[in-house]
Amino acid sequence: MQAATFSCLACSNFTTKLKISMSVQTKIALVTGGSRGLGKDMATSIAKKGIDVMLTYKTFEAEAQQTVKEIEAIGQKAVALKLDMSDFNSLDNFVTHVKEILHANWNTNNFDFLVNNAGMGATVPFEKVTEELFTDFLNVHFKGIFFLTQKFVPYLNSGGRIINISSGTTRFANPGYAVYASMKGAIETFTKYLAKELGTKGIGANVVAPGPIETDFNNAAIRSNPQMKGILSSLSPLGRVGAADDIGSVVAFLCTDDAKWINGQRIEVSGGINV
Ligand SMILES: NC(=O)c1ccc[n+]([C@@H]2O[C@H](COP(=O)([O-])OP(=O)(O)OC[C@H]3O[C@@H](n4cnc5c(N)ncnc54)[C@H](OP(=O)(O)O)[C@@H]3O)[C@@H](O)[C@H]2O)c1
Repeated sequence: MQAATFSCLACSNFTTKLKISMSVQTKIALVTGGSRGLGKDMATSIAKKGIDVMLTYKTFEAEAQQTVKEIEAIGQKAVALKLDMSDFNSLDNFVTHVKEILHANWNTNNFDFLVNNAGMGATVPFEKVTEELFTDFLNVHFKGIFFLTQKFVPYLNSGGRIINISSGTTRFANPGYAVYASMKGAIETFTKYLAKELGTKGIGANVVAPGPIETDFNNAAIRSNPQMKGILSSLSPLGRVGAADDIGSVVAFLCTDDAKWINGQRIEVSGGINV
């Protein structure tokens, strides 16, 4: 809760101030995959907008707790929760846990922003894709997001936003990304339907589609391969690959009132790669 202070302009003496304390519920975001990479920067950038954050990790709890500390240093409340999107049957328990955390930390059942960011990468040529790999990508990058979002809709405040993280690879084809990019394409279509069907509840939905960013993603494919990094940099008019803070600031902007009329959009944040 935050205290709001108002000046009484009707008073004859302007030094007289009427201070009215009232409760204003701080907005709350849930960022999946907030322990590292893009999600970490999204979580801290959102906190810089005065929003509290619940963030998730799958394995790297210490990194998630470090993000929590950085958000607390900014002056916002944060908690780290374990989530494994590949374990579809665990999603109901996760939703229950989020409800408990909301109640214990914010005395509310609701939150405002759902950022579906968590995910993994793999470079596998189409002809070598197994059903097992397909199912793993389906669960993490599409089915899990579809149903997690459905389960959270009753707890999203009116005025809330869903932000789904896609990829530049839905616009341009990158060999070895057939499964990954297909799931991201599904998320983009899904987002349009979210915007259409949740508008009556005052909830908007957008896609942010990053280009290649130097993170741990896909076994740090960009960072650990200078040749690939050079090629990707040369495809960008700005002559470099992206950094996490190229993306987090855009996601944070979408959580502000300034972005309230952006809805149902795919916003590519790729430095103009392959234009
Ligand atoms: N980096 C890029 O070039 C790029 C480009 C376009 C789109 N994207 C998208 O951006 C998102 C974040 O990527 P990133 O670059 O930040 O990757 P990253 O640095 O590898 O971080 C991945 C994050 O997702 C979590 N995670 C991984 N698998 C998970 C699972 N099965 N269930 C729940 N959480 C899981 C990780 O948790 P732990 O830390 O506990 O492992 C971590 O927080 C992904 O959706 C990715 O597809 C990335």
